[in-house]
Amino acid sequence: MKKKSSLSFTALVFTCLASLKALCADEPHANFRPGQIWNDTAGQPINAHGGGILFHAGVYYWYGELKEGRTYLSQVNKTWGGTRVIAGGVSCYSSTNLYDWKNEGLALPSVAEDPDHDLACENVIERPKVIYNARTKKFVMWLHQDSPNYAAARSGVAVSDTPTGPFKYLGSFRPNAGVWPINVTAKDKKHQETNFLARDFRGGQMARDMTLFVDDDGKAYQFYASEGNPTMQVSLLTDDYLKPAGKYARIFIGRSTEAPAVFKRNGKYYMIASGCSGWDPNTARSAVADNIFGPWTELGNPCRGENADKTFLCQSTFVLPVAGQTNQLIAMFDRWNKWHLQDSRYVWLPLEFDMDGKPLVQWRDQWSLPLTK
Ligand code: GAL
Repeated sequence: MKKKSSLSFTALVFTCLASLKALCADEPHANFRPGQIWNDTAGQPINAHGGGILFHAGVYYWYGELKEGRTYLSQVNKTWGGTRVIAGGVSCYSSTNLYDWKNEGLALPSVAEDPDHDLACENVIERPKVIYNARTKKFVMWLHQDSPNYAAARSGVAVSDTPTGPFKYLGSFRPNAGVWPINVTAKDKKHQETNFLARDFRGGQMARDMTLFVDDDGKAYQFYASEGNPTMQVSLLTDDYLKPAGKYARIFIGRSTEAPAVFKRNGKYYMIASGCSGWDPNTARSAVADNIFGPWTELGNPCRGENADKTFLCQSTFVLPVAGQTNQLIAMFDRWNKWHLQDSRYVWLPLEFDMDGKPLVQWRDQWSLPLTK
């Protein structure tokens, strides 16, 4: 009898120690745990969805959508029936090791007082991306600005002297008003009633899901889902990165490509992207191009492992080149929880290349850098 009770005591001590270890295991992080709750350095879940990362002066800055509060069904004039949260603005986190992130607060807050403001809480603020302009020494943010029913489809731009902001909002527009794309055909210019490219020629092109990309020569580009979403456009920015420069191309015509994440490797441009199914996951796509304006060649689904046909139940948002490590790339995805958007998770995985030179993202329960073969 006595022996039995002392064994249980030992078991109890081990259980307590294990629980204590599990509790403490959260900080500091030594690895990436895709899909798990990811706490910041203050112990709060990181809230930066549809995000992107800027590396500047030895520090990574993660910008994303602040999604806080109740998820509700949005129905404006019965035109859109998806779920939403009140737009919280653009959050910013900083890190030097990519595992441990400090909350730097809101880089660009939403506006509660003025329902007519672009950044009003009732509106949509999505997929913010920030780039640094070495010439003007400004941090430039672009985002998808929209009305509650996603009919406005505009690009918003904000600027700051520091990476953490607060950014000054400059306003929004539909890109490339009065300009035809460099690959326009005679047919593209007709049928304004049904052809959105021609319809929007004067007022500017629709711009929803978006990303920014800065090339080696310092030129920056915006990629955005356009023409009602079926076609993506890639647009050169002015030297100060604040406006479209008036040169753009239509790419992935009729393919309904969303969630673009663009990177460069060995002189070629690559994109990871999704199809168009709202918060619900679909099969990821990848593509390559020698010229950023195209032609882009699709390379198929880069994902491997469980739920690879549904992008691990995620949607792409950014591809991050790890600083100081050649060709070490991280593919960043959002695992949307459409009934509780605030609890949407982050899935970061290594982006590798297969034997045929196609992008490859293999599921891992956990992993760390550097990734060695
Ligand atoms: C997705 C898009 C997200 C968000 C969502 C709303 O297709 O990628 O950024 O706009 O739709 O349903």
